[in-house]
Amino acid sequence: MPDPSSFPSDAAGRTFARLFPRLQTTFKKYRNDSPADWEIFSRQLTANFEVLFNSLAQVYGNQYDFYYHLECLLETLAQSWHERPIELKELDHRRQNEPDWFQSNDHVGGVCYVDLFAGNLDNLKKKIEYFKELGLTYLHLMPLFRSPAGENDGGYAISSYRDVNPDIGTMQELTELAGDLRKNGISLVLDFVFNHTSQEHEWAMKARSGDPVFQNYYYIFPNREIPDEYELTLREIFPDEHPGAFTWFPEFQRYVWTTFHSYQWDLNYSNPEVFIAMAREMLSLANAGVEVLRLDAVAFIWKQMGTSCENLPQAHLLIQAFNACARIAAPALLFKSEAIVHPDEVARYIKPEECQLSYNPLLMALLWESLATRNVSLLQESMRGRFAIDSGCAWINYVRCHDDIGWTFSDEDAAHLWINGYDHRRFLNDFYTGRFEGSFARGLPFQENPKTGDCRISGTCASLAGLEEALMQKNKGLTELAVSRILLIHSVAMTIGGIPLIYLGDELAMLNDYSFRDDPHKMQDSRWVHRPQFNWKKAAARNKGNNPPSTVFLGLKKIINIRRSNKAFSGHETDFIDTGNPSVFGYVRTDGSRRVVILANFSERNQAVQSNLLRLYGLGYEYYDLLSDCVFPPEDIVMKPYQFICLQAE
Ligand code: GLC
Ligand code: GLC
Repeated sequence: MPDPSSFPSDAAGRTFARLFPRLQTTFKKYRNDSPADWEIFSRQLTANFEVLFNSLAQVYGNQYDFYYHLECLLETLAQSWHERPIELKELDHRRQNEPDWFQSNDHVGGVCYVDLFAGNLDNLKKKIEYFKELGLTYLHLMPLFRSPAGENDGGYAISSYRDVNPDIGTMQELTELAGDLRKNGISLVLDFVFNHTSQEHEWAMKARSGDPVFQNYYYIFPNREIPDEYELTLREIFPDEHPGAFTWFPEFQRYVWTTFHSYQWDLNYSNPEVFIAMAREMLSLANAGVEVLRLDAVAFIWKQMGTSCENLPQAHLLIQAFNACARIAAPALLFKSEAIVHPDEVARYIKPEECQLSYNPLLMALLWESLATRNVSLLQESMRGRFAIDSGCAWINYVRCHDDIGWTFSDEDAAHLWINGYDHRRFLNDFYTGRFEGSFARGLPFQENPKTGDCRISGTCASLAGLEEALMQKNKGLTELAVSRILLIHSVAMTIGGIPLIYLGDELAMLNDYSFRDDPHKMQDSRWVHRPQFNWKKAAARNKGNNPPSTVFLGLKKIINIRRSNKAFSGHETDFIDTGNPSVFGYVRTDGSRRVVILANFSERNQAVQSNLLRLYGLGYEYYDLLSDCVFPPEDIVMKPYQFICLQAE
């Protein structure tokens, strides 16, 4: 094996061509086409080849044809760079010069389904003004590629990564949209659904028809022998749909590994061809103008008998290899990890050489936990121990998304506070399904598993926060409390370190939509309750009147403006403080010598915080609230129900 670090960087292109003789012609052609461009590529290649080589060698090095595959991959990288549009190469250059661009307090994200939000890509383009009005700089469009008619897991079963779902638009429109968004300061984020394809993907179709090359793209077995052995140690992800992880396909008499739904076939990454094929799909998304890829179901991509087949070391190596491919052929591209797993495992994906961005599912779950218990101890304890991440990375902080809420806090953290994790999850599930007496929430259970007692929660932010119940009771007081809860948890997401992400619809307090129960393709999956059609009528009234949607919209805009006008909210450093009150969550954000102390009251009662304690955090004698503009007298602060304040020294 060559030692890649010994390649002289000035002659890098030539060296690679010598090492991989088959590449000589291709590389020469690209060099002749555009010497300056090729120079950039070879610099990126030499800088990242070692990581690429080492990560892939650890996964595939023992296969006799490893070198051949590496050569194919290099060819793919060179070709993809060659095809990369000039304006994206300019973007690459800008991002390389400012690698921490996403740490700015300017950034606010939004996420939606194209069809539910605007019908199609063409109409979505007309909503750019709306995104700008909200202050969005990051837009995640959920899967919009071709997928099976009928059930398709909201598009997360992809039949082609190169074709947009024809009901939504075309690839051309997507590329144009990416450009339009970029011109308006908005980065396009798409999913990289790379753990599985749909059963209608060309590869799966070929596998079904008996083609051995493509059967090796998936995990396919003739009988239960091996599946049974794997299942001894696997967790069930969608037990409502099928027990275990395998599905029997009678037409072609085989079992297929299907972690999620039966129509989502897990890809076999132990086959290096699969890695290369998916790297090719990834780079084609990057060349269409996607700036961030959300690595869907990242924990599941590597399987090994006798393990849980989640978060295995090879999964990390493969992400490092994908990341190295991006650094070489599409350097502006960033990864966001979607690992909704134990917080120790979530943290392992967050590094500049893996995922620069990561969902923060722990914060999300514990915001809801604190609303249910009116006690922030577990939130405070968990954030204090787990919030800090590599300085080249950022959290994506959210309160709701298109998926269920899983209570992924650490049992060990809970045990420190004498909380039993198992019992506490049961309580939270009871609370958020409204079974617990006095609960304000109206959620639905998701994937309740009687075998393990496991259950997760579906529901929109507003319905879980009590608005649905309050409106049904026509109770003004309860309505106000619900609205304050919605604003409270969003305000935390807007001011804590990282990029906030709004699940679009939540900014207008949209309620649960129970119509999925009448749709045979959706009725099995309660997550559809929180995927309502975006209500543009409500949106039209967003700036007028005294009603929950406009109060939430204007309240959210206000906190977004505060975020965007104060540098203390950039970066991810956040110091969690003891507020001396178990219902009040507190943290400090800093910009040089200026500090902002944030207090969030998670109860529906007034709560006092001692001003002497606050002075310890550098506030001085007099301070004012960025939200209400009120100067606080030096006495103790009495916070109103669910009040959120951002204190800055006068
Ligand atoms: C991710 C998606 C989820 C989907 C699953 C399978 O977790 O967020 O909606 O069901 O992957 O693709
Ligand atoms: C997806 C599913 C969620 C599951 C998770 C596992 O996010 O929606 O329910 O727990 O994958 O990573």
